[in-house]
Amino acid sequence: MKTSPVMKMSPAGLLSLVLCLNLSAGTSGHGPDVLVVVPEGSEAILPCSPTNKENIVRKLFIWNKDGQKEVFFYDAGIDSTNGRSGQDEQFRGRVFYFPNQLKNSNASIVIRHTTTADSGDYTCSFPRLQPEGQIFTVKLLVGAAPEPTVTNLNETKDWALLQCEVRGAFPEPKVQWRNRAGNILHAEEPKVTERGGRFYVTLQTTVNRTDHYQCVATQEEINHQTHREIFVHLNDQLIESCLGVGASIGFWFSGVVSLAAVQALCFAAASIRRRIKKRSRRRENKNNEPALPLKEPGTEDRNNIEAGSK
Ligand SMILES: *[C@@H]1O[C@H](CO)[C@@H](O)[C@H](O)[C@H]1NC(C)=O
Repeated sequence: MKTSPVMKMSPAGLLSLVLCLNLSAGTSGHGPDVLVVVPEGSEAILPCSPTNKENIVRKLFIWNKDGQKEVFFYDAGIDSTNGRSGQDEQFRGRVFYFPNQLKNSNASIVIRHTTTADSGDYTCSFPRLQPEGQIFTVKLLVGAAPEPTVTNLNETKDWALLQCEVRGAFPEPKVQWRNRAGNILHAEEPKVTERGGRFYVTLQTTVNRTDHYQCVATQEEINHQTHREIFVHLNDQLIESCLGVGASIGFWFSGVVSLAAVQALCFAAASIRRRIKKRSRRRENKNNEPALPLKEPGTEDRNNIEAGSK
């Protein structure tokens, strides 16, 4: 499989990116200052710091999601975890600030046990700070990257109908069938359904050559790609495998292999082929990349790597 260098990072690394969006590129209005991407179940740190770097222990800051939901509130020691009501249900007991960091002008929060529903646009505001009402924005993308499953639905001696399924992904994955050479195969239109903010994608293709086939699911937004492989053995290579077996066994004996022997091997090849097929079926669920190691809720790893800040 062809992968870009970033795809060779560990899957956890892939999703643990904080990307900086370039806002100068012709956009009017306000885009997010920072993009935070994490795998589902892990924690996300949303960074925020006022421009003049003052001590904010005695100040007020408010985090909101999508312009309305209150995520976290802090006012001179009173906060969402100790007496301030109004925090949205969705975030109850999951959002914390960093008390020791306030003196360093750091109003970042951590959201624990993230779910895809936490994805969205967050604002961090300092209504009473100069310059007037500073607001910072953070886009959070919580990805769910389940592995595809591949099945050989039906097979004749000439073709096989392969199906790939990706269940419960977010954001919507692009799903493709590829052959061993990495070429994208012609496939039917993918069937995509959405339930509870998750995407279910089924993609079928008919193949008529012996090869290793790969179903590749790509989620560009979270820089993630995963694939599963299936081996299909069809009749097209009977003659090739017959000659191949004949030649290699001939070499092995270091002698002259008679025509009759080759012919006998041709018969053998057919049954070997059947056995290979059986074995490859058994193998077909082992040839996989490791799944995205979604963190157990509660792990304390910092998944956010700051790749730059605006
Ligand atoms: C704010 O504090 C958090 C938690 O310690 C840290 O991860 C983050 O890098 C800090 N941000 C800045 C701008 O110092």
